[in-house]
Amino acid sequence: MTGDPPATPTEAEARPNVARMYDYYLGGCHNFAVDRAAAQRVLEIFPDTGVAAQTNRAFLRRAVRFAAEQGIRQFLDIGAGLPTQGNVHEVVRPLAPDARVVYVDNDEVAVAYARRLLPSDGRTVVVHGDLRRPGRLLADPDVRGLIDFDRPVAVLLAAVLHFVVDADNPWAAVGLLRNATAPGSLLAVSHLTMDGAPPIGAAQGQAVYRRSSAPLIPRPHAEVLRFFDGYDLVEPGLVRLAEWRPDGEPRTGVSHGYGGVGIRR
Ligand SMILES: C[S@@+](CC[C@H](N)C(=O)[O-])C[C@H]1O[C@@H](n2cnc3c(N)ncnc32)[C@H](O)[C@@H]1O
Repeated sequence: MTGDPPATPTEAEARPNVARMYDYYLGGCHNFAVDRAAAQRVLEIFPDTGVAAQTNRAFLRRAVRFAAEQGIRQFLDIGAGLPTQGNVHEVVRPLAPDARVVYVDNDEVAVAYARRLLPSDGRTVVVHGDLRRPGRLLADPDVRGLIDFDRPVAVLLAAVLHFVVDADNPWAAVGLLRNATAPGSLLAVSHLTMDGAPPIGAAQGQAVYRRSSAPLIPRPHAEVLRFFDGYDLVEPGLVRLAEWRPDGEPRTGVSHGYGGVGIRR
């Protein structure tokens, strides 16, 4: 791991962390031995996990560009992860230099690195918050300071909802976020699925994540679709990530996820 030490190194190094495992899949360097070992185990089960992570990032970039093209100038990226290439503000600024971006993550290490690596330009802020506590998140002064909820905002939930168990009712959390945003706001979701995957692999992969900072909950299409209650899905709907408005970037065809964008009614 490079850069400043994390806020709580001993705790951070004690068990695999989903943000840092993902960083490893993407070829990043913000990860510890314990994260790499767990990620390697997942790669043994699903060797294309790194490509799938890139496919997810490419979906996020396309969704952000789409939002900017629709005139959205405010972005709330929840479960933003460790800074990587093509962060939301980097994608959106060439199209909308005045856009404001709030990055949220519940992992202290990810937040610490993001605060250090992302620009302090008054239009970008990093917040330590939890998708499972949307009320608290929406009341956060840093969120309120940058996002005007009377105007449309793009809520980005990329590869994060599959870390929220059913018992924590992620659908209610997304509904609360929806109710807080103005009509015309966007919701972008990418979500792991095991639809079509071998059940044995799915069980082995989930076993690795059970020993990490968050369990992994792949969901079938119908359950992911429910996150868009109150939204009109834009074409082509909720589809495999690589199929969502491909833009000429190399298409891998590898995707263990669904992706979609909806417009709030
Ligand atoms: C797989 S990464 C996705 C990063 C980025 N959104 C992307 O799609 O490239 C998932 C991130 O969600 C964060 N996360 C997991 N559960 C969360 C929660 N309940 N609230 C906020 N962030 C969460 C993790 O710490 C991690 O950084």
